[in-house]
Amino acid sequence: MKVTLSVIKADIGSLAGHIKPSAKLMETVKEYVAKEGKELLIDHYVGFTGDDIFILSSHVQGVSNSKVHELAWNAFLAGTETAKKQGLYGAGQDLLSDSFSGNIKGMGPAVAEMEFEERANEPFLLFTADKTDPGAYNLPLYLSFSDPMHNPGLILSPKINQGFTFTVMDVSYTEADRVIDLNTPEDLYNLAALLRDNERFVVEKIVARSSGEQATAASTTRLHHIAGKYVGKDDPVLLVRTQGSFPAAGEILSPYSIGHYVAGFMRGSHNGPFMPVTQNEATSFFDGPPMVSCLGFCVQEGRLTEPVDCFAQPFWNYVREKVSRKAVELREQGFSGPAMLPYSELEYGGIVTIMEQLEERFKER
Ligand code: 13P
Ligand code: 13P
Ligand code: MG
Ligand code: MG
Repeated sequence: MKVTLSVIKADIGSLAGHIKPSAKLMETVKEYVAKEGKELLIDHYVGFTGDDIFILSSHVQGVSNSKVHELAWNAFLAGTETAKKQGLYGAGQDLLSDSFSGNIKGMGPAVAEMEFEERANEPFLLFTADKTDPGAYNLPLYLSFSDPMHNPGLILSPKINQGFTFTVMDVSYTEADRVIDLNTPEDLYNLAALLRDNERFVVEKIVARSSGEQATAASTTRLHHIAGKYVGKDDPVLLVRTQGSFPAAGEILSPYSIGHYVAGFMRGSHNGPFMPVTQNEATSFFDGPPMVSCLGFCVQEGRLTEPVDCFAQPFWNYVREKVSRKAVELREQGFSGPAMLPYSELEYGGIVTIMEQLEERFKER
């Protein structure tokens, strides 16, 4: 059976600041999807990471289906009403358009979708991140799919050994989707040359060369390209199928032990280490740290199992301690140098005004 997995997420309001949605807001979105999605969807799961609510759904409508997108849009609109009534901060933050126009992509919410023929067993992982942007997944995806240091399957499994095709998008290009396909292992250095720049190049999808099957789908939206100003970070979602001709679940999770520095954190303007957290976690220190949660499911005939919370296992407590240390160490240098993002990433924010005002006060000697 051909099934489509769609994950659509948006920040539509949160408690105290950019921390987490209220229980009532979650309830509104859950109830809306359960009621209005009865006919359209086979199954669904609603959760949150930081201040972002995600709707995972399984259905047979294919990717970019306007009915599936409209359902999510309307669920977020219903949630926004609740957020407004409760006085939540940033009610409707990521809904950047006044009316739905057929495809939720480009309207604010992040979208990752994949249609595939179900295998006899069909395990997959859902990653949802807060206080960062889509490039945060570049390094983990590179390591999981192309480095035997994290993926021994590249040596041990003949299927995985044939490598993968990475589709990388140039997200700074706004006229159209500008993409390149790179094959591992032969394009490994070319891939690294692009993926080192997390703000410009983002892994959109990965396909197994042995089976031609799609392994991953990620959201690639950069909100400031849509809004023309800073309205919040892009807080990306990612779907990864595991096992068989794909990496094992543990090989996908392995690079998250690094806690690599990503863009985001306070006001979306800093670098901070990427912390793996348990499901439905709030942000805190310096509106962060940038965080990612991971739920593991199996799907059969479109029916989802219950999720396993992949970063709840005790091992990750050690990683969280390490990431906390890394966060504090970089925060000690405040706004200086690598602690903050370069001007090119801040140019939609208030710093532009400050720079303009200072312009007149500069003198040439
Ligand atoms: P099992 O033998 O438990 O299926 O595990 C195989 C595997 O690939 C673990 O990474
Ligand atoms: P969000 O993108 O998660 O809403 O965070 C915005 C922000 O400015 C945090 O300081
Ligand atoms: Mg927010
Ligand atoms: Mg957020």
